[in-house]
Amino acid sequence: MVNGQYSMFNVKKMKVLIATEKPFAAAAVSGIKEVIEGAGYEVALLEKYTEKSQLLSAVADADALIIRSDKVDAEVLDAAKQLKIVVRAGAGYDNVDLEAATAHKVVVMNTPGQNANAVAELVLGLLVYTVRNFYNGKSGSELMGKTLGILAFGNVGRNVARIAQGFGMKVMAYDAYCPAEAIEQAGVKAAASQAELFKEADIVSLHIPATAETKQSINKALCSTMKKGAILINTARKEVIDEAGLIALMKEREDLKYITDIMPDADAEFKQFEGRYFSTPKKMGAQTSEANTNAGIAAAKQIVGYLKDGITKFQVNK
Ligand code: 3PG
Repeated sequence: MVNGQYSMFNVKKMKVLIATEKPFAAAAVSGIKEVIEGAGYEVALLEKYTEKSQLLSAVADADALIIRSDKVDAEVLDAAKQLKIVVRAGAGYDNVDLEAATAHKVVVMNTPGQNANAVAELVLGLLVYTVRNFYNGKSGSELMGKTLGILAFGNVGRNVARIAQGFGMKVMAYDAYCPAEAIEQAGVKAAASQAELFKEADIVSLHIPATAETKQSINKALCSTMKKGAILINTARKEVIDEAGLIALMKEREDLKYITDIMPDADAEFKQFEGRYFSTPKKMGAQTSEANTNAGIAAAKQIVGYLKDGITKFQVNK
């Protein structure tokens, strides 16, 4: 048993804290409880918290933590004296300070793929909404026959491709870490570069993580090569966009649209582009009962697997 401190003579149960500023669907919470309690552990729930201090006090006696986009930094890890594992129920783990977690001997995992379909469905939903002029009654256009460029062909990108193909779209993708053959196997044209993808697609959908390499990488120079009337859709991370550059470009090019599921820091400025800009008020991509349940239960099982058997599959820190 991890750390060896819970012997059969010790009655204290391991505590798993679910800390979600944006709560899971109720069905997901029940599913997580079933897995955790079934393993003989206790569940604590901190939802819709508004102050970091609430998280700091809730983690004090937690052995494991399930989060979504909740920030886990050195301060949180310092406060979590018993913590052994954090599972980000979702794909992107840029909200967790991996170095600090490693320094605190805390294992960090994500649950890749579990919410991918939900995000992909939202992409197509937002695109229909956009090409139909936000349902304002004016004649719009269709997605069939248009070229969709998918930037990064991971779990979400693949699901976007599958659904877009159902719409009759031409789909192309570029992924610096995925060989062209793997993209072509999915019936998707592999672009030779990110630059080619931006030049050739009518719509570019972003599915890159926020890393040192990708932050601010979607900039004015790149977007200025987009086709007339192009749409940039972002259900990934706001940090990948050079917001000032995109605003400057959208001022110059009245044909470009920016649609996002992650409200930009410069939301107020983007709002000047009426009819060409839309942001969900809160990130909605993974906000379905199915995605919450898949990701939440996967997180719970990964915690049990680690605490009972030391299984470190899906660990993202070293
Ligand atoms: C992810 O990285 O899994 C998605 O961005 C979903 O994030 P959320 O759990 O905060 O909705």
